[in-house]
Amino acid sequence: MDNTLQTPTILRSDYRPLAWRVESVELDFRLDAEQTLVTSRLACVRVPGASGPLPLDGEDLELVSLRIDGAEAGECMRRTERGLEVTPGSDTATIEIVTRVNPAANTTLSGLYASKGGLFTQCEAEGFRRITYFPDRPDVMARYTVRLEAEQASFPVLLSNGNLVDSGELPGDRHYAVWEDPFPKPSYLFALVAADLEAMERSVETLSGREVLLQVWVEPGNLDRAGHAMDSLVNALRWDEETFGLELDLDRFMIVVVADFNMGAMENKGLNIFNARFVLARPDTATDADFEGIESVVAHEYFHNWTGNRVTCRDWFQLTLKEGLTVFRDQQFSADMLARAAGAEREASARAVKRIDDFRGLRAAQFTEDSGPMAHPIRPDSYQEINNFYTATVYEKGAAVIRMQHTLLGAEGFRKGMNLYFERHDGQAVTCDDFVAAMADANDRDMTQFMRWYSQAGTPVVRASGQWDADARRYTLTLAQHTPPTPGQPEKLPLVIPVAVGLIGPDGNDLPLRLEGDSAAGATTRVLELVEAEQHFVFEDVDAEPVPSLLRGFSAPVLLEIDESDARLAFRMAHDADPCNRWDAAQRYAERVILALAAKADADVPEAFLDAWGALLADESLDPAFVALAATLPGEGWLLERMRPADPAPLRAALMRVMRAIGERFADQWLGLYQRLEVRGPYRYHPADAGCRALRNLALRYLAAAGNEDGLNRAETQFEYAENMTEQFGGLAALVHSASPVAEDALDNFHTRFSSDALVLDKWFALQAGAWRWDEAAPPVLERVKALMDDPAFKLTNPNKVYSLLGAFFRGNPAEFHAADGSGHAFWAEQIIALDAMNPQVASRMARSLENWRRYTPALQTSIRTQLERVRDADGLSPDVAEVVGKALVG
Ligand code: TRP
Ligand code: ZN
Repeated sequence: MDNTLQTPTILRSDYRPLAWRVESVELDFRLDAEQTLVTSRLACVRVPGASGPLPLDGEDLELVSLRIDGAEAGECMRRTERGLEVTPGSDTATIEIVTRVNPAANTTLSGLYASKGGLFTQCEAEGFRRITYFPDRPDVMARYTVRLEAEQASFPVLLSNGNLVDSGELPGDRHYAVWEDPFPKPSYLFALVAADLEAMERSVETLSGREVLLQVWVEPGNLDRAGHAMDSLVNALRWDEETFGLELDLDRFMIVVVADFNMGAMENKGLNIFNARFVLARPDTATDADFEGIESVVAHEYFHNWTGNRVTCRDWFQLTLKEGLTVFRDQQFSADMLARAAGAEREASARAVKRIDDFRGLRAAQFTEDSGPMAHPIRPDSYQEINNFYTATVYEKGAAVIRMQHTLLGAEGFRKGMNLYFERHDGQAVTCDDFVAAMADANDRDMTQFMRWYSQAGTPVVRASGQWDADARRYTLTLAQHTPPTPGQPEKLPLVIPVAVGLIGPDGNDLPLRLEGDSAAGATTRVLELVEAEQHFVFEDVDAEPVPSLLRGFSAPVLLEIDESDARLAFRMAHDADPCNRWDAAQRYAERVILALAAKADADVPEAFLDAWGALLADESLDPAFVALAATLPGEGWLLERMRPADPAPLRAALMRVMRAIGERFADQWLGLYQRLEVRGPYRYHPADAGCRALRNLALRYLAAAGNEDGLNRAETQFEYAENMTEQFGGLAALVHSASPVAEDALDNFHTRFSSDALVLDKWFALQAGAWRWDEAAPPVLERVKALMDDPAFKLTNPNKVYSLLGAFFRGNPAEFHAADGSGHAFWAEQIIALDAMNPQVASRMARSLENWRRYTPALQTSIRTQLERVRDADGLSPDVAEVVGKALVG
């Protein structure tokens, strides 16, 4: 059966306000792992002048009873496809609904579910309807009071949103707690937790002098891993006060850790629930990257309290209203934290490292999404399953669109816009138009054309060319833009694109810029606004032919096309004053070399390229963190996006050759760096230390790739003796990414050491699933992945395990996944079908790893199509996976 024909499409244009308001919700939970009884009392009021029934969404629920104003509903209620519909006889009504649910049987991790003996909820986007019947849409905002009752021994801690107003013991070893959330909220922000947990607590004073209690709840025994999350929370709280004047509005703010979770974390009002991997960290179990991720996700969820909770989305098409804005906020926060730690002198470099990281992520995930069958604007016009739209486009490109507003309006103008946004919309469910209108009105600026960023999909291409006129001492920069067609959008209009520009003189220094018509020469970087399909920008007093440096700081989420010789790329690698563009020049050069090698198997790695690389390594004025980024080759996924047709096997061979060449040619430099940058003393999470560790680990990777004995010995020693996970895992990774015979022993040893630590084992799974075959005699990685599925620590029901084993293989190991015999693709189909029966959200995320199949070679396409069709036709497929494979197979 073709499942894709059965899934209805929801349109943004179909939005209609509800005829009813829900003023308050009283929830009463008799919690039990298998049979939880939920009583919900809704105080409903008809919107004046409106007519029609009140639709109540419900999914996988057992309805026990429904009463309207105390009486059996009878004729006033009917079942619908989505749940129920009630038609009260008057304009106000109290609706009391009793449902029964089975958390232990809920493997979707949406709604109320069990994890390691505790009970947890996840309601975004549409999980509340799996707990009780409710108008489960974000524009229904109500005040919630929640009473939780459970057996004391199994569920000693009972938490929900807001403030604890009552609690006590009950006969039969039971107990209860009553929670009241003073702020009206949409149902997707509801949460409860009933589990055996311990809290780390800290009390802080807010801007206005109120005392608030911060808690991080973890499994007993894990308190020594909660400190970094707590520190991050305090930093986030201070940052929002200082940067935006936004204060915590509750007496208590809780973070709860859960082992089984579909995403990173969730911003439920006053009760954030976190995937364990974004809270738990100790130097010997978490890497620098983990520490960084925790800081940013803790901040992200905290920032949602204003951008998401106090002002929320009118409908799910507006998701980027809260997500794009909140990602932008967490990116700014992390950059500020890095800058603060780095100190005044190194501040710019520290910020650039964060920008590069963010842009690299955008390019790898979002640019590829935007050129495939799932391409959509940051505010989509339609969807089949909203869970499929928590995408890189909505989040990362959405953040880039907010960043452009920040760039165009300036930090102060942006702040004025934010103030007006909260002044107008606090307590409301609004749209992206409302946000941009606040920015426009606060700054007296017309943002009509800018709004096209919200409606047009696809990565815009900016084509640049320059012409120097020696006689007139002028340099004319021509910028042209076009956005390629995407599904449903054949033609696009010009966007407002801020292009930050510098001109580099022949001596490598930036020229002061004076645009035609300007009075005085000034800054060395200027933001040009490209608003037409093509525009000329004329710079005056230019005495020698400059090298343009465009899109500095990645000022817009676009692809820049410009003709540059190898020599010019090397020049920018060495001299561009903008570190983002220095990185970009190195990436462009590497991309050119690697793709050429992939097309011509017997070619040599060009000497000039190696020279440019060597200069980068030799430049001791650069921060190690920056060098570690600049000396990392472009990601394989991104290179496949640039290779037509995409052919993973020769690409992998080319990457290996380049890595070996860099490892061999610069062996002495790598070893020198490795020694010079050693970090002494106990581990601390600090950007300067992290930069050194990152570059040393990279050195080991190149040396191991080249089979350098000294390097391999150091990797082994580092693995054996390191006291922190960053170095220990760095050593292990270097061994696994080599032909070294000790890799297997090291993997076993690591497994034994951490056999009871789920988060550390996730790394162990991912490393093996993503391994390259440096030893040609080694068996295909697929065999190992299959074997690892039988490891007692692996569970298909735990998303972290799925992402680290299957995700690392499907997304992170293209050459092995796309093996010519199609074995990887067949395995993919089996796993998607198995996963979908348990957890459609996770299955769908994994299924997306093949959506860009049309860019592969014809033979691979044939193999993939067969498997996509197999999944499409599987019995009982979820709408989640049906949408992904359906869109992949169309057109
Ligand atoms: N709102 C969450 C965030 O961005 C995302 C999220 C958490 C989510 N859990 C989810 C989205 C489950 C969909 C389904 O911070
Ligand atoms: Zn978010």
